[in-house]
Amino acid sequence: MNRRQILQSLATLLGGSSLPLPHARHFSGITPPPQQAASPDATQPHPVSPHLVNLLDYEDAAQGRLSKMAFDYVAEGAADELTLRRNRESFSGIRLKPRVLADVSKLDTQVELLGQKLDFPILLAPAAFHKLLHPEGEIATARGAVAAGATMVVSSLSTTSIEDIANIASGPLWFQLYVQRDRGFTRELVQRAEYAGCRALCVTVDSPVPGTRYREMRDEFHLPAGMTPANLKSLRMPSNNDAGATLATRGIYNVLMDPKLTWDGIDAIRTYAKVPVILKGILNPEDARLAVAHGVHGIIVSNHGGRQLDTVPATIEALPQVVNSAGGHIPILMDGGIRRGTDVIKALALGARAVLIGRPYLWGLAVNGAGGVEQVIRILYREFLTAMALCGKPTISAIDREVLWPDHSL
Ligand code: FNR
Repeated sequence: MNRRQILQSLATLLGGSSLPLPHARHFSGITPPPQQAASPDATQPHPVSPHLVNLLDYEDAAQGRLSKMAFDYVAEGAADELTLRRNRESFSGIRLKPRVLADVSKLDTQVELLGQKLDFPILLAPAAFHKLLHPEGEIATARGAVAAGATMVVSSLSTTSIEDIANIASGPLWFQLYVQRDRGFTRELVQRAEYAGCRALCVTVDSPVPGTRYREMRDEFHLPAGMTPANLKSLRMPSNNDAGATLATRGIYNVLMDPKLTWDGIDAIRTYAKVPVILKGILNPEDARLAVAHGVHGIIVSNHGGRQLDTVPATIEALPQVVNSAGGHIPILMDGGIRRGTDVIKALALGARAVLIGRPYLWGLAVNGAGGVEQVIRILYREFLTAMALCGKPTISAIDREVLWPDHSL
């Protein structure tokens, strides 16, 4: 059996979400996401199952549990998937500069973001259709996020309504907005999210049209009968779609993406939104400058996980210019390709206030529901602590370009 087969059999053995966590006994030893300052301890037992020790293991394990269509939907990028790969490769090309003999016995990962205190600067990126990955869908994701102490950004395209997610999630939620052609409906959706307790609004601006995705085309991607974008139930669907049953992917995107959206639309949202408005999907420094000028409260540097315009740069490559362009006026977050604790410290060193992960927690969800989501976050968090310690940086505010080995291209 090769490594992938072993992981796949393990995933099969894990069975449904009702099974106890296979590695629960290891949990007692892991440094929890800190309620107070924390530090990694090499003497503690390894935090996870020996077969699922890092985020990439979860991808391998998830592949054994999912249909080809569902796996491809999560894994895919646009067109030749060059940007998808570049998001990862660019992290590999950045080297860290360690420091020795710094007192790292206490590490503090708390960070302030848009008036909120986060225990650590890692959030769950919005992703559509969690029920494709696990029968409990977004409810399981929210439970995992709460258990690990992370903020979850709920997608407009969740298969569970924002109200139902908020009812079970005792932890912080943000809402991701796809601006609809029906602007009245858009406003109602924002108000529903605010009423449900979401603390920030991420308006996704990189998707006026869907990206070219060959895997979806080949797999004839569709939502299984009975699975719908729950937040959009009252939205009028184009006549060629059956809103109640199987929605063709392209049909969903037609409803969701308003190619007419411009800065005026963002200004309009700013007038009624009661929570901070963040633009998700900016790479171009000129757009970052405009975002500041239009008074938004934050930016997520994102290429949609390489799913929209292929051959754009990796987000870690675009980040420094966006940070520079925003001039310190608003916090800059980033996502795309974060798989290791060292990736998190690199992003922070290049000016990100926090990072988001997408696919890794979806793989965790597929492998073991809420427990899998929790584990993925804990693994990444622990790796991040280790990277902080070995770079000699005990606090988030201490992380700067000094942790990067000099490279004049950055
Ligand atoms: C996404 N992403 C996304 N973004 C968004 O604003 N609204 C959405 O509904 C979705 N849906 C979605 C589904 C799936 C399956 C994936 C993989 C991604 C993009 C997501 O928020 C994030 O930008 C990327 O996933 C980050 O890259 P990594 O961490 O997956 O490499």
